Amino acid sequence: PVEERITLLMKEMTLEEKVGQMNQYNGSWDFTGPKPVGGSEEEKYEHIKKGWVGSLLSVRGVKEVRAVQKIAVEQTRLGIPLIFGFDVIHGYKTLSPIPLAEAASWDLLAIKNSARVAADEAASSGLNWTFGPNVDIANDARWGRVMEGAGEDPYLGSKIASARVKGFQGDRLDDFTTIAACAKHFAGYGFVEAGKEYNIVDMSNSKLYNSVLPPFKAAVDAGVRTFMNSFNTLNGVPATGNSFLQRDILKGAWGFNGFVVSDWASIAEMITHGYAADGADAAKKAAIAGSDMDMESHIYVAELVSLVKKGVVKESVIDDATRRILRVKFELGLFDDPYKYCDEAREKASIGSKAHNDDVLDMAKKSIVLLKNEKNLLPLKQSGAKIALIGALASDKNSPLGSWRIGADDNTAVSVLEGMQQYKNNSLVYAKGTEVATNKQVFVNEVEINSTDFSGFEAAKKAAKEAEVVVMVLGEIGFQSGEGRSRTELGLPGNQQQLLEEIYKVNPNIVLVLNNGRPLSLPWAAENIPAIVEGWQLGTQSGNAIAQVLYGDYNPSGKLPMSFPRNVGQCPIYYNSYNTGRPVNKESNVFWSHYSDVEKTPLYPFGFGLSYTSFEYKNLKLSNSSYKKGDKIEVSVEVSNTGNLDGKEVVQLYINDVAASIVRPVKELKGFELVALKKGETKTVKFTLTEQELGFYDNQGKFLVEPGAFNVMVGWNSNEGLTLKFELK
Ligand code: IFM
Repeated sequence: PVEERITLLMKEMTLEEKVGQMNQYNGSWDFTGPKPVGGSEEEKYEHIKKGWVGSLLSVRGVKEVRAVQKIAVEQTRLGIPLIFGFDVIHGYKTLSPIPLAEAASWDLLAIKNSARVAADEAASSGLNWTFGPNVDIANDARWGRVMEGAGEDPYLGSKIASARVKGFQGDRLDDFTTIAACAKHFAGYGFVEAGKEYNIVDMSNSKLYNSVLPPFKAAVDAGVRTFMNSFNTLNGVPATGNSFLQRDILKGAWGFNGFVVSDWASIAEMITHGYAADGADAAKKAAIAGSDMDMESHIYVAELVSLVKKGVVKESVIDDATRRILRVKFELGLFDDPYKYCDEAREKASIGSKAHNDDVLDMAKKSIVLLKNEKNLLPLKQSGAKIALIGALASDKNSPLGSWRIGADDNTAVSVLEGMQQYKNNSLVYAKGTEVATNKQVFVNEVEINSTDFSGFEAAKKAAKEAEVVVMVLGEIGFQSGEGRSRTELGLPGNQQQLLEEIYKVNPNIVLVLNNGRPLSLPWAAENIPAIVEGWQLGTQSGNAIAQVLYGDYNPSGKLPMSFPRNVGQCPIYYNSYNTGRPVNKESNVFWSHYSDVEKTPLYPFGFGLSYTSFEYKNLKLSNSSYKKGDKIEVSVEVSNTGNLDGKEVVQLYINDVAASIVRPVKELKGFELVALKKGETKTVKFTLTEQELGFYDNQGKFLVEPGAFNVMVGWNSNEGLTLKFELK
């Protein structure tokens, strides 16, 4: 019936009204891109009344949404409701950890639930569409938007993409607690050259098919209803004007029947790229290539009607886009009740509810990664200990909210200081030490924080000297990563590194808690500091989560979803790299693939993370040593908790296709399981490998499963584990 209802409605629609559905404007606040030329607020309202607008972004709150929806429903000729989009990236008002941190949990149920919570809050605030999940695979920590994705691995990234889509959309899109999801940014944006924001992307077909596209395909398989294209060119063609991506792959091979929204002004930016001569040319190229909705370029509304009338763009292109957009509106139930997301009582009850806070706290604890724990520094004693807490981020209630949290109020995170203060049987002294330096343009209001102020060092040193243990919270402020925040240095910004080294001189018993939105390179800390906790930007409940881990009320089990480099010069660095012809130093000469000034391994590999207990892996077994195509390959391993605490371990399975028609990575994640083990307990963990896991895409995008030898590793990170071999006949 939905298709019939669309057909009936479209029969009534003028060309202008159809093009109107393809037009999306930003509300009057929260600009998430450069201010567009033209398009005054009055003009936007006029266009809504004429039925020339299909969607608004960044209008939120029941009152505001209802007011604009009323115009669309009551004042336009056909009363077609608007769809309201918003960047619900890691929560709406109650924030979860940044997506990269959530990925470190490897806990798909928790991640799905986190998206569910976000959807519930957003939907209760009038919204029905999120611009998430970001499923961009990325392996260059210089790029600020790594904080928004699931890291460097397409297998983990695909599982998480699917979990997030299912979390946002739930089982029924027309439920008033679910919202339409949007897989973005299609495609290749995670590989901007040199990690520089908005840069070009030049990549092989092999990388595109095997690394970039799988999470998008997983999102389609999970039923995602919308896609967003990306700012970048892909091999010379802007993604927004790329019919190979949008028509051939997405809407063709994958059969996607939802709609594609452009990124902010990305249709207009095709002119700047040098791909379109003017607005009309950009509109033509974007529409024909399959960009269904224009976000803030104001170009479709200006150009498409006359392009159709002149015969430059076929009306069938417009019809197809309109049908796709209307389909999602029907599926959301907006035609049955345009105000279904507009219930003030529900808004009040849902936003910031105790249940949501409990859920994001749970997610935050699961996202923490223990990177080092020597001298038994952790967990901290819960009573009688004298602790110094140092670092500006320790008392910061804003930075843990991270980037992309426009629905949340400033300074609403629980700080580490507040979290630790709840453990009242210890003495806790706080000293800031220094500020976290920032450059101009990190904040929207362009504040720059000086990095050369050492005046707080003495007070911090005094506190450290008098303490048994020093907890230092260092890293990036919330907006130091995210869109438009690429960096060429990956150390601690400003003089935090000096502070760390000065404190170490007076008291080396340091627990370093990192707050950051991307992998940092901290070789000195990794070597000298006895305990390091990756505490990311963990959202509203950040400080409580970190305190519970530090004090042992929660045993950490997170594993890194991205490799941490030794220095920025190693970027991009990723575990699923290639052997090359000269991977090792055989003859003690220089002719092998390496750097002469730093080891070629990462500081911390993908999949790495410790626990307060210890695990042992034994008896890796394969059901056979050789298989035929189509056979199921059973792999099992015994994992024991050999320490003194209950804990959880992410057991990871990697394969290596030894020789293939296209060289394959040295390792590829093809299975993982999060296993809870009581102290002393042993479990047998089983994996099944099928053709799906053993195959790969060739340079034409054909999926191949080739016979030959495979190595299997089951381990505790991408670098360590037990190995076996098998043959595929
Ligand atoms: O959703 C975002 C996108 O990721 C980057 N540009 C702006 C969009 C809308 O805010």
